[in-house]
Amino acid sequence: MQELSMNLLDIAQNSVAAGSTLTQITIAIDTAAKRLTLTIADNGKGMDEETVRRVTDPFYTTRTTRKVGLGLPLFQEAARATGGELTIRSAVGKGTTVEAFFTLGHIDLAPLGDLSGTIAGLVQCNPELDFVYRVISDGETFCMDTRQLRQMLDGVSLATPQVAIFLREYLEEHTENLLKRSTQI
Ligand SMILES: Nc1ncnc2c1ncn2[C@@H]1O[C@H](COP(=O)(O)OP(=O)(O)OP(=O)(O)O)[C@@H](O)[C@H]1O
Ligand SMILES: [Mg+2]
Repeated sequence: MQELSMNLLDIAQNSVAAGSTLTQITIAIDTAAKRLTLTIADNGKGMDEETVRRVTDPFYTTRTTRKVGLGLPLFQEAARATGGELTIRSAVGKGTTVEAFFTLGHIDLAPLGDLSGTIAGLVQCNPELDFVYRVISDGETFCMDTRQLRQMLDGVSLATPQVAIFLREYLEEHTENLLKRSTQI
């Protein structure tokens, strides 16, 4: 079973590849509703309706030369395995929002994995791009915005290893308890 942080990384990389300059990643946990929602919203080039339909079906394109991607189908499969679903909203020239919801407490729910490390790595590898990372857990919210981080760093690049290490620890410290609720069901 692949950790959800790995799925998330793949989907966020799609956003980067699509030219997104601001990618917003949100993890929402609602223990009463037994629901975990992962949302990746970007302002990249977007997809037309036909492409949106095609990208969640790895077999749809077998008679073309287009490379068959696995990121979205795997994310969809991970959600469906828990009774959840994946939805894609996209508009050409505006951006794409990929949202997957999962059932908390389901035996087939994959572990979250190292979300803090994944986000810190994403920021370090794309120091010119902006990311917002939000964790909303039963109404309590944590938010990290690289636009604010950039100001605080006063010219020091987000690619600096020490910054990445700091960011990972900072995220871990502030989200650990919020994320823990997803396994306490
Ligand atoms: N955020 C996005 N914005 C625009 N196009 C996207 C976005 N996400 C996915 N796509 C399109 O959907 C295709 C399929 O994405 P998917 O992640 O499933 O596979 P891939 O990225 O092509 O390959 P893989 O993830 O297996 O390396 C992408 O190649 C791209 O054309
Ligand atoms: Mg991909």
